[in-house]
Amino acid sequence: MRNPIRKRVLITGGAGFLGSHLCERLLADGHDVLCVDNFFTGTKDNIMQLMGNPHFEVLRHDVTFPLYVEVDEIYNLACPASPIHYQFDPVQTTKTSVHGAINMLGLAKRIKARIFQASTSEVYGDPKVHPQREDYWGHVNPVGLRSCYDEGKRCAETLFFDYRRQHNLSIKVARIFNTYGPRMHPNDGRVVSNFIVQALKGEPITIYGDGKQTRSFCYVDDLIEGFVRLMATPDDFTGPVNMGNPGEFTILELAQKIVALTKSRSEIVFKPLPSDDPIQRCPDISLARQKLGWEPKVDLDAGLTRTIGYFSALIPS
Ligand SMILES: NC(=O)c1ccc[n+]([C@@H]2O[C@H](COP(=O)([O-])OP(=O)(O)OC[C@H]3O[C@@H](n4cnc5c(N)ncnc54)[C@H](O)[C@@H]3O)[C@@H](O)[C@H]2O)c1
Repeated sequence: MRNPIRKRVLITGGAGFLGSHLCERLLADGHDVLCVDNFFTGTKDNIMQLMGNPHFEVLRHDVTFPLYVEVDEIYNLACPASPIHYQFDPVQTTKTSVHGAINMLGLAKRIKARIFQASTSEVYGDPKVHPQREDYWGHVNPVGLRSCYDEGKRCAETLFFDYRRQHNLSIKVARIFNTYGPRMHPNDGRVVSNFIVQALKGEPITIYGDGKQTRSFCYVDDLIEGFVRLMATPDDFTGPVNMGNPGEFTILELAQKIVALTKSRSEIVFKPLPSDDPIQRCPDISLARQKLGWEPKVDLDAGLTRTIGYFSALIPS
């Protein structure tokens, strides 16, 4: 007989940055975790500390192919998340979002599992409305360099809602805004990891554009708490729900904070802005506050300090 409190949870993309933190959290909560990953951007190092746990399993598998397992809940996180990685093979990126969603939704339907989708603030594109609420439909370029990711994620949301309407699936869709923390990739071109690595190496810190574009930064532990709360909501709450930190900082402010916290002598240099880079991105998290009683708790300085600690151990000084 299975322990009814102990759920069997499948996490696709479980060896990635967010996925590995989610694996850890769900194991700590007493569940059985099946981590599925093709190790495109994820690594065994991210989950090494979990390998000896008898309630943890890893399966090397690509979600663009069907998967047959028995679980109670599915968190679908598999997808490269940074432009460098998702633009490496854009067709595969769209396939991962779209075929991956179809395969995981098909699995959820067959085994009657509840399913969570890691969607993204990129579904809002270069937004014309600030901050973005969930009822904003976005302003997305369908043919640009970021489209494989943005449109793939939009189509995945469509599939989730059609499976809900057509097959009455229990779905949970989170629109994740910029999140950072330990186990981010050191070389993925994301702003927080880029700046920290540059500062620790004493290299110039590169800002694209004039640095006045703003971003919001959510610490990973806060986000994972939001995932778990969303998964636990009643069936009639599907999302989409924004998850991120509404505190806005300019890219220049972020660079200056990182220089100060690392005590780096790096200088800040400016380069041209790539196409389709949004000038402002900030979540309206009223819905998450109201439905999940959730909001981020870790402030930027505290989160950056923990993240810098992780990168310091990776990068020899
Ligand atoms: N980190 C963020 O700020 C952020 C923001 C918005 C959305 N998201 C979403 O959250 C999810 C996780 O992002 P992350 O930051 O942890 O990125 P990540 O690249 O660290 O993790 C993605 C994981 O998916 C795996 N993967 C990729 N393609 C796969 C495939 N076809 N089959 C199986 N596994 C595959 C990778 O190997 C990796 O382990 C992604 O879906 C991403 O779009 C993240």
